Amino acid sequence: MGSITKCLFPAAGLGTRFLPATKEIPKEMLPLIDRPIIHYGVEEAVNSGCSDVVFVTGRGKRAIEDYFDRSIELENILLERGQKELYDMVVAVSEMARFAYVRQSEPLGLGHAVLCGEQFCESGFFGVILPDDVMIADTPVLRQLVELHERLGGSVVALEEVSPGEVSRYGIARVEPQEDGVYRILDLIEKPSLNEAPSRLAVVGRYLLSPRIFHHLHNLRPGSGGELQLTDAIKSLLGEEVVWGLRYNGLRLDCGTKEGWFKATVTMALENGTLREALFSLLRQRGLMDV
Ligand code: UTP
Repeated sequence: MGSITKCLFPAAGLGTRFLPATKEIPKEMLPLIDRPIIHYGVEEAVNSGCSDVVFVTGRGKRAIEDYFDRSIELENILLERGQKELYDMVVAVSEMARFAYVRQSEPLGLGHAVLCGEQFCESGFFGVILPDDVMIADTPVLRQLVELHERLGGSVVALEEVSPGEVSRYGIARVEPQEDGVYRILDLIEKPSLNEAPSRLAVVGRYLLSPRIFHHLHNLRPGSGGELQLTDAIKSLLGEEVVWGLRYNGLRLDCGTKEGWFKATVTMALENGTLREALFSLLRQRGLMDV
C-alpha cells in the first residue's frame, strides 16, 4: 500500500513544558490513556503505509527504544501466567514496523533533528510525524498527505486554521488555493506576529517531504529562537520544488503542553465507555454535572 515507506519521528526535544516529569521520562512517553503519546503517531504511520520508522532521539530517551523493542522477560512472565492477550499486545508493539534510531546530540531545533535522519531518508519522499500532535481521523492524516502526493507530486504539509491569538506559535503559510482544501504554498513564516502573518493557516505536525529538503537543511542558518527551523528549509525548498498545503480532515490533540495533554486525555476518555462513565460519575459527585 502506498508509495511512502519511511517515516521520521523527531523526539529529541527537552520537553521543558512538562518539567519535572520530563527530567527522566521523555515527553513522548507520557501516557495518553493506556499508551505513550508516541505510540499513536507510529500507529498512524503504519496505517499510512510506512514499514520503516526512524526515531531521532537524544539523551534520556532510552525509554522510547525499550518501548518499541521486544521485552523478553515481561513476555515470558505473561506467558507463564497464561495472560495470552496481554502477551500478544506487548509483542504487537515491537512488530508494528522496522525501527531505527539516530541520535541528535544537542537539541538544535526541528530542522536539525530532521537533518539527523538524512542517512535513512535520503532515497525518496518520506513522512515526518511530530509525536506531540496526536491526530484522530478516519483516514490517517499522513495517509491523506500521501494520497495528495500520489495525485499531484511534490511535498505536502498539513495545514490547520488557527485563531489570531495562536499564529505566533506556528509556522504560517502564504498560499494560493488549488482545489478544495488544497493550497500551493507560496511562502512560510515561522512564529510571526499577528501583523506579519500572511494568513491563519498554520503548519502542524505532519509533513511529507522531498529528499531535496536535506540540501536545504545543510545550507540553513539558525532562525527563530536560534534553532534550525524546518519551516525555513521548506521555505527554501519552495524555490525549486512544489510544496502543497492540505487542510486535513481530523482532530488534532496537541499533547505538547500540560493543558493540551489534559484536554487530549479527557477527549480520549470520552470515547471510552468505562472512562467516560468514570468521568461523569466524578463530575456528578462534585456537583458539577446534574444528569
Ligand atoms: P517542541 O518544541 O514542541 O518540543 O518540538 P520540545 O522542545 O521537546 O518541548 P519544550 O518546548 O521544551 O516543552 C516538537 C518536536 O520536535 C522534537 C521534539 O522532541 C518534539 O517531538 N525536537 C525539537 C527535536 O527532536 N529536536 C529539537 O532540537 C527540537
